Amino acid sequence: MEIRPLKSFGIEVIGVDLSHTQDPEAVAYMHQLWADNGLLLFRNQRLEECEVIRFSRLFGELEIHVREEYLSPNHPELLIVSNVKKNGKPIGILSDHEVGWHHDQIYLPRPAVGSLLYSVKIPDSGGNTAFCDQAGAYEALPVSKKRELEGVRAVHSYEYFNRQWSEPTSEMQKKRTPDVTHPLVRTHPISGRQAIYADPGMTSGIEGMNKADGHAFLNELYDWCLQPQFLYEHKWRLGDAVMWDNASTMHRRGEFDPNAERIMKRTTILPPPQMAVPI
Ligand SMILES: [Fe+2]
Repeated sequence: MEIRPLKSFGIEVIGVDLSHTQDPEAVAYMHQLWADNGLLLFRNQRLEECEVIRFSRLFGELEIHVREEYLSPNHPELLIVSNVKKNGKPIGILSDHEVGWHHDQIYLPRPAVGSLLYSVKIPDSGGNTAFCDQAGAYEALPVSKKRELEGVRAVHSYEYFNRQWSEPTSEMQKKRTPDVTHPLVRTHPISGRQAIYADPGMTSGIEGMNKADGHAFLNELYDWCLQPQFLYEHKWRLGDAVMWDNASTMHRRGEFDPNAERIMKRTTILPPPQMAVPI
């Protein structure tokens, strides 16, 4: 196994076939790399659905996503992200439009710590996924600003995200995902690094602040996070698997040609239960 740092942050792991990996030492090493660096890229993979699931499980239990209509028919641990339609019905979520900055599942009381996205079919251009290193952004803040963020809690809402970037949430899904609050600065459950834990897509405000003040406060933070030195934009190739850390990074996707087909498969990785609530 070799590793190569990506531009800005994240690591490409070379020489690993995810369909076979199980050596405990190699897994422990990748687990630490993932927690410390926010993102791991594995290229040239050829994976069956059960192999994506098996590899993801080496890093934690998997979440069954609330969007039941977009789960793989044979493997509910896999969420299909796609613009492809079969018999007039979409097979996956998030079609071909832009999807704004967000953390997967920040809107849950016990949010997932990671996601693995595997590319099965990709357009010739567009549909890139950009990642923002919010641990690096936090560490670079002046001490006075870090003090200002101490004890602040942000409000997160799946409906707020769906209104902006996805299909409307059903009544049942709304009931299953009421708004939650988490600390605005999250301590990583494995690495202990601190990161700004809010995003423009899913964070609807700051606890105890009115809407306008909350948004102004958050927008200033986002401007800081979205500086080029904290960003990595991934241009997908077939067979890429990217495993990112939802505790220390946020991500967005660019739009692509609606006539092109894109199929991605995602698992959602939970932290150990004793570390599940963000602190
Ligand atoms: Fe996402």
